Amino acid sequence: MIFENHGKVERNVTILAVLTLVVVLIGGLVQMVPLFFLENTIEKVEGVRPYTPLELAGRNIYIREGCYTCHSQMIRPFRDEAERYGHYSLAAESMYDHPFQWGSKRTGPDLARVGGRYSDEWHVQHLTNPQEVVPESIMPTYPFLKKRELQMADIAAHLKANRTVGVPYTDEQIEHALADLKTQADPNADPTDLQRRYPKAQARDFDGDPTRLTEMDALVAYLQMLGTLVDFDSYVPEQNRR
Ligand code: HEC
Repeated sequence: MIFENHGKVERNVTILAVLTLVVVLIGGLVQMVPLFFLENTIEKVEGVRPYTPLELAGRNIYIREGCYTCHSQMIRPFRDEAERYGHYSLAAESMYDHPFQWGSKRTGPDLARVGGRYSDEWHVQHLTNPQEVVPESIMPTYPFLKKRELQMADIAAHLKANRTVGVPYTDEQIEHALADLKTQADPNADPTDLQRRYPKAQARDFDGDPTRLTEMDALVAYLQMLGTLVDFDSYVPEQNRR
């Protein structure tokens, strides 16, 4: 019986179009409506925290210099990627990135987990003149980063701006932004408070010159923390948690 009526639908273009539209709309609603009732589509992952002021300053330089035009920060969940770069990226790992740095092109390698892979000296030398350490490199040179003092007077405002778009910086973190920034790059300062506010923050002189706080300090501090916050030995995806 239903097949007799089907003949009508197939011969009448208007009915066919209308019914097709109805079916597609139902499919679309089934897919989209549940998303409006989810509070958050990013699963919570232990260890992910907002950037320290120094890391944030370094990230600003990363964006200013257009590093994202050649480097991605998103390891896709494929075996070849995971073998080369490490555990695939989790959404939570870029939840405090405004704007995100996933990138769209890999002229150079993915940097999502570059933290800890090389020494600070390697990074300083590489950024100053990449061909010195990787002779075939086509990466541009950034020798000025080591010479330029880091502009930091407005760092608290950067934290505040990030809070405006949803990064949960506390009043305490904003109040201590400038002090925390200096502490992280000062090998003689006591990093206890910094590391209480920002667990796993690495504090030391990053650019090889402890007498100055340069843009190189900030950028290397940022590179050295990338991908280091989540402990993948103990990480269990949410759907596998009991
Ligand atoms: C014109 C494209 C280009 C730009 C712009 C660029 N890079 Fe690169 N980068 C490369 C290439 C190609 C390599 C691989 C060869 C090498 O190691 O130098 C690389 C390698 C690297 C590596 C080593 C990664 C690894 O896993 O071995 C780091 C770290 C890095 N770049 C950081 C940066 C930063 C920070 C900036 C911005 C200041 C930047 N790059 C800008 C092309 C680029």
